[in-house]
Amino acid sequence: MAITAVVIGAGNRGRFVYGRWAREHAERLRVVAVAEPHDERRAAFAAEHGLAPERVFRDWSDGLAGPRLADVAIVATGDTLHTEPALVAIERGYDVLLEKPIAPTPAECVRVVEAAEAAGRLLQIGHVLRYSRFYETVHRIVSEGRIGDVVHVDMKEHVAHWHMTHSYVRGKFRNREIAAPILLAKSCHDLDLLAWLVGRPALRVASFGALTHFRKDRAPAGAPPRCTDECPARAGCPHDAVAFYEAPDERLARAWPWSDVSLDPSREARRAALATGRYGRCVFQCDNDVLDHQVVALEFEGGITASFGLQGLAPREQRTIRVTGTRGELRGLLDGGVIEVERPGVLGAERFAIEGSLLGHYGGDVGLMRHFVELLETGSRAVRASGRAALESHLVGFAAEQARAEGRVVDMQAYRDAAYAAAGIPRR
Ligand SMILES: NC(=O)c1ccc[n+]([C@@H]2O[C@H](COP(=O)([O-])OP(=O)(O)OC[C@H]3O[C@@H](n4cnc5c(N)ncnc54)[C@H](O)[C@@H]3O)[C@@H](O)[C@H]2O)c1
Repeated sequence: MAITAVVIGAGNRGRFVYGRWAREHAERLRVVAVAEPHDERRAAFAAEHGLAPERVFRDWSDGLAGPRLADVAIVATGDTLHTEPALVAIERGYDVLLEKPIAPTPAECVRVVEAAEAAGRLLQIGHVLRYSRFYETVHRIVSEGRIGDVVHVDMKEHVAHWHMTHSYVRGKFRNREIAAPILLAKSCHDLDLLAWLVGRPALRVASFGALTHFRKDRAPAGAPPRCTDECPARAGCPHDAVAFYEAPDERLARAWPWSDVSLDPSREARRAALATGRYGRCVFQCDNDVLDHQVVALEFEGGITASFGLQGLAPREQRTIRVTGTRGELRGLLDGGVIEVERPGVLGAERFAIEGSLLGHYGGDVGLMRHFVELLETGSRAVRASGRAALESHLVGFAAEQARAEGRVVDMQAYRDAAYAAAGIPRR
């Protein structure tokens, strides 16, 4: 019999990733209820899953109020609306798939993870990259000891300029009122991979970063607040909303990121949305405060060091990784699907070509769902991207953000203690 799910938040992730996977694997996962305040999304989702009206709710609190409706709750609301639905779902006896970041503060992250463990509920965090073939291969090579003991890890995330402006300047994750800091909102995946590869607790963290480019003082002279108005700087502007959001045909415009602008993929609907909505705004005149570049330096137990860098002005998406071990070095280019292992004193490199889709986080979306449903089918509790594992990397992310804001090195042991104290939960 299929595992049953209630979806909390039928937006981009809830509908187009988790809802879609359920529809494509109806024999394994069946959505039986939804909570979504947006009328058009709620109606579309209910129709796609054939939900009875009494199983369709406007708000997560109504959806989770009564007796348990399903085996699992998939919580895919926005960054600042994870904690409460997750805690209530756990309390009501649901196993939970919770989107990253767990919560927007360290104390709330602690509360959610501890509540799930105390209740014996399965808690899977949406760290999709752990389930991509590329990082699975990196992890396997490192954990098999093929480069010896890990000494240093260097990871970089080059965010394409259109992705940066869509999500972190104009969009859903643009400021601290509505989203976690970019290290959590965007790069918690990378910090999670780092923790997974190193496999030891972080001891100290430092960070620097700034919002340098997407600011009002960088706006071209005479640029209006919206790209839909006459703009003297339009020619040659890589951030022109009209060019980016209107150009694709209707088929492509059904997909993210265009689906965020308008669920109706017609050019007319997109144009109307740009004229009034957030995605039509000049990138230099938004209400964003998210950094557009940041570096983090980490020291782990055992003298292992790591560096992570993020920047949002890249011509295209790219993630790179270099893991230096005592007997060799692994180098990987995610977007090229290539991993190389080279050993000192040996000519040539061993190459691993990773095949598969670039889409859905390089296969990670599908991999995560497969893993999650398999755990539920078999009753296993061996979650790869568990709440506990994610808590560690989330705390590192929050600590890095504090280190940056305060211009100091943060001691992780003290930071974990403070997070538990703020949560009012004794540390085990
Ligand atoms: N794992 C990943 O790689 C990945 C990728 C993108 C986004 N995310 C995360 O997934 C989450 C959702 O992102 P998204 O892009 O789908 O956002 P979204 O805005 O498209 O979807 C969130 C949905 O929650 C709904 N919602 C708001 N209030 C609600 C309430 N009271 N009850 C029920 N639903 C409510 C919204 O109407 C919206 O439809 C975010 O936390 C985001 O950071 C994860």
